[in-house]
Amino acid sequence: MGSAEPKEPGRPDFFNEYWKRSRLCGQVGEDAIGEEIRVNGWVRRRRDLGGILFIELWDHSGLVQVVFNPDLKPDAPDVHRRGGDLRSEYCLAVRGKVTRRPEGTENPALATGKVEIVAEDFLLLSSSEPLPFEVGDATDKVDENLRLTYRYLDLRRERMQHNLRVRSKLYSFTRNYLESNAFVEIETPMLTKATPEGARDYLVPSRVNPGTFYALPQSPQLFKQILMISGFDRYYQIVKCFRDEDLRADRQPEFTQVDLEMSYIVEDDVMTMIEGYMKGLFKTILSEDIPTPFRRVDYWDAIDLYGSDKPDLRIPLELVDLGPVFREASFEPFRKILENGGVVRALPLPGGASLSRKEISDIEEKTKKWGASGLGVFQCKENDLKGPLVKFMNEEERDRLKTIGGLKDGDALFVVADSSRLKACTVLGTLRLELGKTRGLIDESAWKFLWVVHFPMFEWSEEERRWSAMHHPFTSPVLEQLDGMETSPGNILARAYDVVLNGNEVGGGSIRIHDSAVQRKVFSLLGIGEEQARERFGFFLDALSYGTPPHGGIALGVDRLAMLLCGGQSIRDVMAFPKTQKAQCLLSKAPDVVEDARLAELHIECIPVED
Ligand code: AMO
Repeated sequence: MGSAEPKEPGRPDFFNEYWKRSRLCGQVGEDAIGEEIRVNGWVRRRRDLGGILFIELWDHSGLVQVVFNPDLKPDAPDVHRRGGDLRSEYCLAVRGKVTRRPEGTENPALATGKVEIVAEDFLLLSSSEPLPFEVGDATDKVDENLRLTYRYLDLRRERMQHNLRVRSKLYSFTRNYLESNAFVEIETPMLTKATPEGARDYLVPSRVNPGTFYALPQSPQLFKQILMISGFDRYYQIVKCFRDEDLRADRQPEFTQVDLEMSYIVEDDVMTMIEGYMKGLFKTILSEDIPTPFRRVDYWDAIDLYGSDKPDLRIPLELVDLGPVFREASFEPFRKILENGGVVRALPLPGGASLSRKEISDIEEKTKKWGASGLGVFQCKENDLKGPLVKFMNEEERDRLKTIGGLKDGDALFVVADSSRLKACTVLGTLRLELGKTRGLIDESAWKFLWVVHFPMFEWSEEERRWSAMHHPFTSPVLEQLDGMETSPGNILARAYDVVLNGNEVGGGSIRIHDSAVQRKVFSLLGIGEEQARERFGFFLDALSYGTPPHGGIALGVDRLAMLLCGGQSIRDVMAFPKTQKAQCLLSKAPDVVEDARLAELHIECIPVED
């Protein structure tokens, strides 16, 4: 096609200035009427109406209609004929004149909908294989694995273009904001030693140092702290992090952080800096005014009120403590749990009295899956309290349940009793989220930020029978509690803070330990002995002992922030080339096997795995 035609003078059959676009497709407006223009792009849609051919040509700026009409352009009939061979996603250069669309044929859905380009000539830049799926608005409905296999086509559409451009704006806003606040961008190594952030490391074998491995960083934590020791004061980096962990919609094996660290500061300094950042970011990208400062909620208050350490404050439901109702009540199972140090907690649901028996039993099933041993349900219908437990309660207890449980006529109350406060609350917290979604209680237009602060410093792992760090082991305990660290580690609070937006943890950080003696104590509590600590973090412990300033910082999850800014459901929606749940790149087919010779070079032998 094309090359067999006799060439007109000045009409090259290769791409050069003659064909180079003079306007973007989406910018051919009424102001261009009468203009001879050139556009470059892809054939999105093609219609043949009684011998007149209409093509929607697309580039990242939008669509424009091109008309191949032999009547309007009788001197170039071959243009029309050749146009007939065009198919979806062929790449073209078109020359033509912009005209107003005939009355009644305008398309108000398109920015260019009042005009069209009458094609005078075109050059086919490249054709396309038949497509695995139609590219356009409907692509969202195509199986995601197919979209990821042909990611280049998936990205060739408005929504993905928008998402990645928002992400790019986020980067430029970040750099401007932090640079104007005296932060210095410094890169830290990708081939490094393990930094514990709670996940497994991706390891890279060293060819020149047989039998040794680099770890890809789970975060630049240790290096950024060392930069504080080096006197940089305010560091930042937009940085890739790698974590080998179970993947979910909001987790990828490689993801991006806005990572920062500051010296001679306390918690408020980091929080104020981040509040200013979020305010500016939302104003720049969404023209939204975000109120600051953000609400601060202690970790245990977040658990007690919302059953989550990343509560979605758009849901207007709060948990209540039914301890005072059942502590001396006649209903023995709840009383026993309370006597043994457990809790009875509840979630009131306004309007829940109308839930059917089937709906209630579905909810019961779900809460069991989430770990509850049972679910007590009360419904208040025509001021009459109903539910299987009512018969075990006297009049006074029922009244107390209504008052303390905030149970009004027409409402329901879901109750979980458990020896673990965390378990009871998180089951109800999961139910709170579920009811928020299914009953349409979420205000989708709201942006609800909060800080969750004062996390416990240590978590007891029943499985491993040892304490582990809830954030990372470089987080400072609340200094006033230092003396009690060895005797009651479970009560020690950390100087840690998470920033949460609409139920998503979008960042986390802390004030760090800047005293090597305290750091050693924390390691020892975590069961990391002196020798092991030296082996794993000796370089860091050494650095800490050379005049370390008090410091702290935070890392924001860029992918999660970008997802929220774009209204996406998964961070994969805002990553150009994400991985699947099985940590595979379907486009490049990574990870892949390598030849034995390459393994030998790395002094590695593979152990075959049975399927
Ligand atoms: P943390 O581990 O809390 O802290 O990570 C900071 C933020 O990074 C995002 N995030 C992820 N995003 C996508 N996929 C993942 N697998 C993933 N893991 C984490 C989250 C999270 O809030 N070094 C500390 C920060 C500090 O203390 O300064 C750290 O990495 O949004």
